[in-house]
Amino acid sequence: MKVLVTGGAGFIGSHTVLALQEAGHQTVVVDNLGNGHRDAVLAGEFHNVDIRNTTELAALISRSGVEAVIHFAAFIEAGVSVREPLRFFDNNVGGSVSLLEAMRQTGLGTLVFSSTAAIFGNPQSLPITEDAPTAPTNPYGESKLFVERLLADCEAAFGLRHVALRYFNAAGADPLARLGERHDPETHIIPLALAAALGVGPPLTLFGDDYPTPDGTCLRDYVHVTDLAAAHLCALAHLAAGGPSRAFNIGTGQGFSVRDVIAAVEAVTGRTVPLVRGSRRPGDPAALVASNARATRELGWSPRFVELKDMVAHAFAFQQARRALSDL
Ligand SMILES: NC(=O)c1ccc[n+]([C@@H]2O[C@H](COP(=O)([O-])OP(=O)(O)OC[C@H]3O[C@@H](n4cnc5c(N)ncnc54)[C@H](O)[C@@H]3O)[C@@H](O)[C@H]2O)c1
Repeated sequence: MKVLVTGGAGFIGSHTVLALQEAGHQTVVVDNLGNGHRDAVLAGEFHNVDIRNTTELAALISRSGVEAVIHFAAFIEAGVSVREPLRFFDNNVGGSVSLLEAMRQTGLGTLVFSSTAAIFGNPQSLPITEDAPTAPTNPYGESKLFVERLLADCEAAFGLRHVALRYFNAAGADPLARLGERHDPETHIIPLALAAALGVGPPLTLFGDDYPTPDGTCLRDYVHVTDLAAAHLCALAHLAAGGPSRAFNIGTGQGFSVRDVIAAVEAVTGRTVPLVRGSRRPGDPAALVASNARATRELGWSPRFVELKDMVAHAFAFQQARRALSDL
């Protein structure tokens, strides 16, 4: 299959492009490199295009003959979205509207969309199933939920078939260290804790240690980026086989605390993670853990890397490989 990947130069997109290529698919990446890296697109076509440019997207779709789209391109920082809601809606919703319009114009009718656990807000019970109430606590989550609803409207209006994958916390790196997380600024805990442990970043801030969890710190469901990439291939296969439009929660079903992450980083690096105590961040739920039963049952997806120490070890190996490269 030939697949258009928006945001394919970013963290999860670049790993998915690699997985698609390794499975024998062809890829056409569209990324404006606002937050992505050209050298993270290890194979296939690359086009420096902003997805809000409908005309250019439609021309590219017609010219390249892609058969499906995986749509990652978005802004991702929930905290920034609170300060800059218009910029987030412009990119995440406006960008999706533009892509969907280009798909409508060209008759391209198959889409896998990057959604998020942030659409659920503070869950009423755990693990979180797909039918749990949605109540985002920030504009980022709102923008993703809005797009999920828009996809259903597009199906009703012009037959768009789609899968929304609601990822929990993406973590880890390609196990062969070819790719990894390079957000700038980085806000994700594993790369931040690694940088703190190695003394190449500031001490790690602990945002609240008085949550109603076993050790007082937040519990999150960390899912390995290689497993996330595999979920996209399962979603494409589901749609190609005529499966219905559907949303799936993508996590391992296990919750790890901030202190568990710190312990894993210390075990992997053999160094202490320097800590600073901070207060709770507004809108941070105590615990987010996915039920992946639907994805297992209907997509045949299950995570390969469920140990936190493997996710940390892969992220660490990638950071070390990059550091070795920059020392050359
Ligand atoms: N990282 C996570 O833990 C996580 C969790 C849930 C959902 N998601 C979703 O997964 C997707 C990918 O996340 P990521 O961590 O890889 O982020 P990322 O920032 O590394 O990747 C996003 C990519 O999209 C590109 N992009 C953004 N706006 C664009 C535009 N208008 N036109 C073209 N390219 C554009 C960026 O340059 C970047 O390469 C996002 O949609 C995000 O909301 C991520």
